[in-house]
Amino acid sequence: MKVVIIGSGVMGSGIAIESVRAGYTTLLFDINSDALTKAESYIHKQLEKAQSIGKITEEARLAALKLLQFTDQFSELKADFILEAIVEKLPVKQDLFARLESQNSSDCIFATNTSSIPITQIASSLKHPERLVGVHFFNPAHIMKLVEIISGAATDEKIAEKAFNWATKLGKTAVYAKDAPGFIVNRVARHFYVESLKALEEQVGDFEQMDRLMRATGFKMGPFELMDLIGVETNYSVTQSMFEQFQYDSKFRPSRIQKQKVDAGFHGRKTKKGFYNYDA
Ligand SMILES: NC(=O)c1ccc[n+]([C@@H]2O[C@H](COP(=O)([O-])OP(=O)(O)OC[C@H]3O[C@@H](n4cnc5c(N)ncnc54)[C@H](O)[C@@H]3O)[C@@H](O)[C@H]2O)c1
Repeated sequence: MKVVIIGSGVMGSGIAIESVRAGYTTLLFDINSDALTKAESYIHKQLEKAQSIGKITEEARLAALKLLQFTDQFSELKADFILEAIVEKLPVKQDLFARLESQNSSDCIFATNTSSIPITQIASSLKHPERLVGVHFFNPAHIMKLVEIISGAATDEKIAEKAFNWATKLGKTAVYAKDAPGFIVNRVARHFYVESLKALEEQVGDFEQMDRLMRATGFKMGPFELMDLIGVETNYSVTQSMFEQFQYDSKFRPSRIQKQKVDAGFHGRKTKKGFYNYDA
């Protein structure tokens, strides 16, 4: 089975690692050639790291790299399974899938890694909406085990099952979820970010202190360092999308402070500045 992954940013590169490690010929595409170059070097480093800690052998690392290709040519995006991990914007995702549908066979499965946009809405731009399924990885995708498999109103059950099996072959723990705002994990976890940002706005504590505190209670990362890892702008888009889908319920109100970071281009680790600085 040939796999195409679209978007070589934070998520696309991690998913590509898992796809080639599971033995799938995988093509990684991005509209930005700099992003592709960065992804290539990131993937090499991550596989070397996995080898150095004994997680994979040298043969496995080389075999994985042999299966991976990179392209910025849209016409090459023909496969059995195509997953997108591009910007969290409905019209951009819809446009992408409509263009993919015009150059792929009717058997090709389309998957979206969206964190919050309804699968049903993304699929509505397709002639065959039954072929689109949500396959939601968590960050870092080559480490985190969970994958949510989300069926939209039109998704064919057999397609969801195939996506479930693909994620399982990648060594992931796949879980079915319904097409509701934020699915399961983001719905529950949204308050981790939203409430922390509210507390910051109210000056209940500074962000470093809140991160330390949450770590001390057992969380692996505090909310602010986690937003920097996710991408402050991606996290903001997800909150914005959930706020709209929950009919502007104030529980999901996006934060002014977070919006300011987005506008300033302080997107977290990927821009070397978010809540924290990453100059070194
Ligand atoms: N970052 C996270 O923690 C996380 C976790 C789960 C799901 N997601 C979801 O995954 C998706 C990608 O998030 P990310 O954090 O990897 O974003 P990112 O900004 O790191 O990467 C997105 C990449 O997509 C490329 N891109 C944008 N528009 C494109 C297009 N039309 N065609 C091809 N490439 C395009 C960009 O150049 C960029 O390299 C989003 O839908 C996001 O909600 C993110």
